[in-house]
Amino acid sequence: MIGIIGGSGLYELEGFEILQRVRLGTPFGEPSSQIVVAQVEGKKLFFISRHGEGHVYPPHKVPYKANLWALRELGVKRVLGVSAVGGINRSFKPGDFVVVDDLLDFTKGREDTYYEGKFSLPVSGEDPVARLLREGKVVHIDASQVYCPQMRGLLVDTLKSLKLPYHASGVYACTEGPRFETPAEIRRIEKAGGDVVGMTGYPESVLARELTMCYASLCVVANPAAGIAGYRLTSQEVIDLMKARERDIVSLIIQFVKTLPEERTCGCERILEGAVV
Ligand code: HPA
Repeated sequence: MIGIIGGSGLYELEGFEILQRVRLGTPFGEPSSQIVVAQVEGKKLFFISRHGEGHVYPPHKVPYKANLWALRELGVKRVLGVSAVGGINRSFKPGDFVVVDDLLDFTKGREDTYYEGKFSLPVSGEDPVARLLREGKVVHIDASQVYCPQMRGLLVDTLKSLKLPYHASGVYACTEGPRFETPAEIRRIEKAGGDVVGMTGYPESVLARELTMCYASLCVVANPAAGIAGYRLTSQEVIDLMKARERDIVSLIIQFVKTLPEERTCGCERILEGAVV
């Protein structure tokens, strides 16, 4: 089963057959929105709006742990996050899609793990994750492949088949926000190897991995990053670009969900092997 987390400008799943809308509580708080259960050609998917109904959660307040936990409770094994980003790499233009393959974290102390050792929440359940939390284990997951290679490969194939403009790799840099970056910050991120910048890609990706789920991020370049743009950045520009791309994003998700094979061939499922102290 797949979960989709929609970012700025993607608040609903237009074009899907909606089966149900559910509100779930989790030991980690309430998810940022109701969860929409939808289907496409008999394949079920779950959708959460990252910023909530009415866009009320700024990036640093998104309940990332609750969102991922709720999807897990629903049986989701794969998560696709959709995010607007600023383009740093000069060949990335507004409207382009980027299937990022690595991550830089510039956030400032967000809650980014379920595994708090002796301070972990003693959740119920008999699966390995629940047991590790209850046993208060310390867990260091590998982050050398934050984004699922199987999902990334299929995203690239789908973008290609739909003839959408895309880049098959790129480094996602996550800043704390909610303000946009300064030009000096962007120069620093560029030196560090960042290709795109956003405010929500961390800790969403690593939390999904901690729960043994596959995670991929579909980034949409909404604007040139600060200092590269040469003009003042606005939220309006980001939302407008995402709205303009909404039909393409939905077509892509439909095609992606339809063609995603049931079997996970990536190894994301085995992330906890050797990770527990
Ligand atoms: N910076 C950070 N987050 C963003 C940007 C940006 O330029 N554009 C869209 N999300």
